[in-house]
Amino acid sequence: MHHGDKKRLAAQAALQCIKPGVVLGVGTGSTVNLLIDELPTVRDQIQAVVASSKATEERLRKLNFEVTPLNQAGSIDLYIDGADEANKHFHLIKGGGGALTREKVLAGAAREFVCIIDDSKWVGVLGAFPLPVEVIPMARSFVSRQFVKNRGQPVLRQDFVTDNGNEVIDVYNLQITNPVEMENRFNQIPGIVTVGIFAQRPADRILMATKNGVQEMTRK
Ligand code: 5RP
Repeated sequence: MHHGDKKRLAAQAALQCIKPGVVLGVGTGSTVNLLIDELPTVRDQIQAVVASSKATEERLRKLNFEVTPLNQAGSIDLYIDGADEANKHFHLIKGGGGALTREKVLAGAAREFVCIIDDSKWVGVLGAFPLPVEVIPMARSFVSRQFVKNRGQPVLRQDFVTDNGNEVIDVYNLQITNPVEMENRFNQIPGIVTVGIFAQRPADRILMATKNGVQEMTRK
């Protein structure tokens, strides 16, 4: 089965998590886009929808959803988003699409975080996927040097500006053996807005599409 077909399976499985009156947070990326395309089928259930990126906001608007700013929505009942990597503790790497900061804010504001992936993203140790790091532009070189000290190889994402007007550094070759500690430590480096490790606030559920169907896992 192709990755794309698996992504669609995971996205469809997430529809069942949407309950009447939900304030829904919507992530970013190709898996979530497949979910967004199905959201009109559950439109009646959705009280309000909050977007994790301008791209997601635009896609929702095209389907006639009114998008509520987080400041107005308050807390989120359910946040649904993809990931670049996930492990058995439900720690994630996110930000392949560059929306990591707003995604982390929505995940933090959500009572429940459901992550939709295909099984190519399931890993033992996070870090084979280069770690996205959002930085304010004037700190780019300083931050890059700090990652070199940590044996990472930082590469500036070319021709890319985040929705917040910042830049993204992708850090290769990190072995993220202790995601909670590393998220904490890297986030202390001045100039970093946030790193794409989602471990302090992991996913609560993972819906992982495999060739045999969708495996539903709940964090203990
Ligand atoms: C965007 C993300 C996405 O969730 C992640 O990149 C996965 O994307 P896709 O569903 O296209 O594989 O974190 O910033």
